[in-house]
Amino acid sequence: MRPIGIGVIGCGGMGRTIVAELLRQNERLQVRGLFDPDKRSVKAALDSCCPGAKVYRDYRSLVASSDIDWVMIASWNCYHREQAIAAFEAGKDVFCQKPLATNLEDCLAMCRAWKKSGRMFSIGFTLRYSPHYRKIKELLDGGTIGDIVSMEFNETLDFNHGGYIMGDWRRLTKYAGTHLLEKCCHDIDLANWMVGSDASRVASFGGLDFFVPRNRKHIKRLGKNEKGLEAYRTWGGMVNVDPFTSHKDIVDNQVAIIEYANGVRATFHTNCNSGIPERRMYIVGTEGAIRADVIAGTIETRRIGFGTKSEKVDVGVSGGHGGGDAVLCRELAASMLDRVPPTTGLTDGLKSAAVCFALDKALETGRVVSLQSYWRRVKRVLGSVLHR
Ligand SMILES: NC(=O)c1ccc[n+]([C@@H]2O[C@H](COP(=O)([O-])OP(=O)(O)OC[C@H]3O[C@@H](n4cnc5c(N)ncnc54)[C@H](O)[C@@H]3O)[C@@H](O)[C@H]2O)c1
Repeated sequence: MRPIGIGVIGCGGMGRTIVAELLRQNERLQVRGLFDPDKRSVKAALDSCCPGAKVYRDYRSLVASSDIDWVMIASWNCYHREQAIAAFEAGKDVFCQKPLATNLEDCLAMCRAWKKSGRMFSIGFTLRYSPHYRKIKELLDGGTIGDIVSMEFNETLDFNHGGYIMGDWRRLTKYAGTHLLEKCCHDIDLANWMVGSDASRVASFGGLDFFVPRNRKHIKRLGKNEKGLEAYRTWGGMVNVDPFTSHKDIVDNQVAIIEYANGVRATFHTNCNSGIPERRMYIVGTEGAIRADVIAGTIETRRIGFGTKSEKVDVGVSGGHGGGDAVLCRELAASMLDRVPPTTGLTDGLKSAAVCFALDKALETGRVVSLQSYWRRVKRVLGSVLHR
C-alpha cells in the first residue's frame, strides 16, 4: 500500500480544483511536484492544496523525477501534446484535462506515445462523471424512450462566463483551439456516448457577433455586481483584458449539426452571452423523450402514448459540472491506487476532438464535412475503436 506520487503541470483554477479534491479524498495520494510558468499559480497551489511540494523549473525535470508516478496536466490546451508525450516517455501514467489537444495530428501523436508506453491515461471529461448524465444514460440503456432517433443539446453561458472566456487565454486559438473544442468538447463527448455511435458527417455555422467593441456599452448598461465588479468581468481570477476590445479569434455563438453512423441526428447550439444559462438535452426516441438540464438539475421523461404523463427524476445535483468533480476524483483515485481502468480515456478524448475539428472545418468552409478520412487516420493508430 505504498503512497502514490503526483506531479502537477499547470496549477491554475482547474489544476488546483481537481488536486484539492483528490487529496481531500485520499491520504495515500501525495503531490510531490509542481510546474507552472506563472509564479502566482504555483504560489496559489502551494498555499491552497500542496504545501511542501517541490517546485520545478520545467516540466521535463518534473516528469523525469523518480518519486512521481502520475503526471496531472492542466496547462493551456496547446501544451497538452508535448507534456503528455514527455510523461509517457518517462514511463508515467497521465491524467490530462480536456480537450486532448488542439489538432488531429497532436491527438494522434499522443495516442501513439500512449500505446508505446503501455501506461494509463485518463481525460478530464468531468460531465461523464456527473450523476445527472449517468442517470440519463441509464434511462437510455434501460429502454425508457426506445431507440434514439434525434436529439438537440446546448451550452449557453452566463454573460460573465462569456466575458471571462473573451478575456483570458481561451480567446486565442493558438493556445486553446476553437471555442467549440475548448468549451464544448464535453458536450460533444456526451452526445457521442449517449448515441453510442461515431459521427459520419457534420455541418456548422458560427461567428463573433456580440463581444465586439460596439457592444462595450452593455458593461455600462448592466452596471456592477454587489461586490462592485463590472458586468462581464466578474468570473474567475487574474483576467484584466477587456472582453469587448480584446484581440481574439474565436466565435461567441455557433450552431452545429451532426449525423451519426447509426442514423441518429443531433443539433448543438452554444452562445457566450446568455440570459438563461443552460446545458440542456432533448432526446427523442421511438417510444418517448427525455428533456434535461444539468444547470437547473432537472430530468424529465415521457413515454409516447395516450394520456401518458411526464415523470420527473431527481438525482439531487445541479450547476455547471453537475457534481462531476467529486466523482471524477474518486474514480481517478481508484485508477491511481488500484489500477482500475480509467472511466474516460484517450479514445473518448480523440473522438470528441475529431468531431470538433470536423465541425470547425465545416464552419470555416461552409461545407458539409465527412469524417471518413478522420476515422481512417484514427484506425491506423488505434485499430478498430469505431462504433456503427
Ligand atoms: N474538466 C473541466 O470541466 C475543465 C474546466 C475548466 C478547465 N479545464 C481545462 O483545464 C485546463 C486549464 O484550464 P484552467 O481553467 O485551469 O485555466 P487557468 O487559466 O486557470 O490555468 C491554466 C494554467 O496553465 C498555466 N500554463 C500556461 N502555459 C503552461 C505551460 N507551458 N506549462 C504548464 N502550465 C502552463 C497557466 O500559467 C495557468 O496557471 C485547460 O485544458 C482547460 O480546458 C477543464
